[in-house]
Amino acid sequence: MKSTLTWHDARVAELRDLTPTVREFVLAPTDAVAERWAPGAHLQVRLSAEGREFTRNYSLVGSPEEIRGYRIAVKRLDDGLGGSRAMWQLVVGDAIEVGTPQNHFPLGFAAPATLLVAGGIGITPILCMAERLASSGAGFQMHYCARSRERTAFRRRIEQSAFADAIRFHFDEDGPVRSFELAAILRAMPAGTHVYACGPAGFLDHVLEIARAAQWPQDRVHHEYFSAAPSALPQGAFEVRLASTGQCHVVQAGESVVEALARAGVRVPISCGQGVCGTCLTRVLDGVPDHRDMFLTAEEQLRNDQFAPCCSRAHSASLTLDL
Ligand code: FES
Repeated sequence: MKSTLTWHDARVAELRDLTPTVREFVLAPTDAVAERWAPGAHLQVRLSAEGREFTRNYSLVGSPEEIRGYRIAVKRLDDGLGGSRAMWQLVVGDAIEVGTPQNHFPLGFAAPATLLVAGGIGITPILCMAERLASSGAGFQMHYCARSRERTAFRRRIEQSAFADAIRFHFDEDGPVRSFELAAILRAMPAGTHVYACGPAGFLDHVLEIARAAQWPQDRVHHEYFSAAPSALPQGAFEVRLASTGQCHVVQAGESVVEALARAGVRVPISCGQGVCGTCLTRVLDGVPDHRDMFLTAEEQLRNDQFAPCCSRAHSASLTLDL
């Protein structure tokens, strides 16, 4: 699904804790009905807390047909950038803005078999995919890796589902005996299987590395990062030139291209601000980007014809952007 993003006023209609660190919210638009969405879709939310504005993406969970509101699950990250803490301050009735659902991680139904892989809170889009595949009678297997039973969101819902036999849990607390042997799992899947994986950066990097080592075709590995790891790479200053006006703007060390352009009154739409969602992708007409996003594939990054200005920088002294 690819739809134009429009924003709606909404209220927190329900909330409940799924684990000590994962809270489920139902956000009900007040000026429209909730739109239908497909598995893999995410919701953008905009809220203010402590004098700051946050825009964040959260995968949709629950039923795509639910019209009362959008259901999301938010893991509280005490050492994160503040978005999840702001979400956790909300109470029922609070105002928030929601975007129309977007989907950069769509599920295909034509594959002979599907392997679903979730790490931690990455379960949210994966669970929707499992429920949709199960209801359509498609064959699939799902692996859900988590620290402990207590901290495993949706564990009961999965264990009590009609497709519980297709699910394998892997808990860190059980030690290596129950470890997640993805290479062996891939070998056992039928030819033509498509893999869908979601989780934190380290987990997903591991999944992609194993798939590469197994020579799994790239077009059969679909993934979505739950969040990006903060970049520890150097951050020198460089210049961006806008093709439409010829104006040049300096991007200082420590600020993003999006921030530098905003200072000059040029607004680039962003969502995650971390190189995860692809909302800010901008065409590069000249110069060599220093890609720091997790949205583009390695092949797409090598083409150097687009980049994510919310996080990526420049290897060349200047970049000319199609803005
Ligand atoms: Fe999400 Fe840039 S805003 S990748």
